[in-house]
Amino acid sequence: MDFHPNPRQLGWIKGAIFALALLPFVRMVVLTVTGQLVEPLEFITRGTGDWTLYFLCITLAVTPLRKLSKWNWLIKLRRMLGLYVFFYAALHFTTFLWFDHFFDVQEMWKDVLKRPFITVGFAAFVLLVPLAVTSTNAMVRRLGGKRWQWLHRLVYIVAPLGILHFWWMKAGKHNFTQPIIFGVIVAVLLGVRLLWRQRQARAQQACSCSMPAAQRTGSARG
Ligand code: HEM
Repeated sequence: MDFHPNPRQLGWIKGAIFALALLPFVRMVVLTVTGQLVEPLEFITRGTGDWTLYFLCITLAVTPLRKLSKWNWLIKLRRMLGLYVFFYAALHFTTFLWFDHFFDVQEMWKDVLKRPFITVGFAAFVLLVPLAVTSTNAMVRRLGGKRWQWLHRLVYIVAPLGILHFWWMKAGKHNFTQPIIFGVIVAVLLGVRLLWRQRQARAQQACSCSMPAAQRTGSARG
């Protein structure tokens, strides 16, 4: 289906996605302040962790979706979705620092180093920071397109780390169903990129191989 929104429609789409993406946060706040949660700390820690992972998958899905649908405008949603990954990850981390350690940074460090699933989650969060900081147009210009692209490939490390963090956490409870589902989703989203890159490299090689032949034919004719 061919769909190319005009700037006004794109504005509406962006606004709708912005509002929808904020809903899980609003729900968490409402349920907490109205005292409707039995285990608020667990609910918020897990909810923010889940939404970090969902937005990570949604953000990684933008490029494959754009290529398959030829809806190039989808790329214009990627920055906002990526910033929502960081937003929920920052909330997730803040919840941990606040509720688990009451902002005692030394205690937090001990925990980060002691529990491997926290170490991995923390590493994923640290790698998200430069991506969020360099998400503005001014930073893209300052870094230059190529360097910015390289830096933003860190997301290909963040996603497997997020899965490992989730896997390790659930391993303690011998409950692997969700980590397997998300592991497969992330593997497919990263795998298609590898396949496309290989195909592109092969096409370029074939093109450069055929060039001299074409030139030869051209000179023979001349
Ligand atoms: C990209 C970064 C991260 C992702 C994608 C992520 C994702 C998740 C997910 C999906 C869960 C499980 C939620 C559930 O049970 O449904 C979780 C739990 C948790 N995460 Fe993270 N996380 C990240 C970073 C962090 C960081 C930086 C910390 C702390 C330093 C952290 C600490 C925790 C803790 C304490 C739990 C709850 C464990 C429990 O309830 O037993 N995570 N995370």
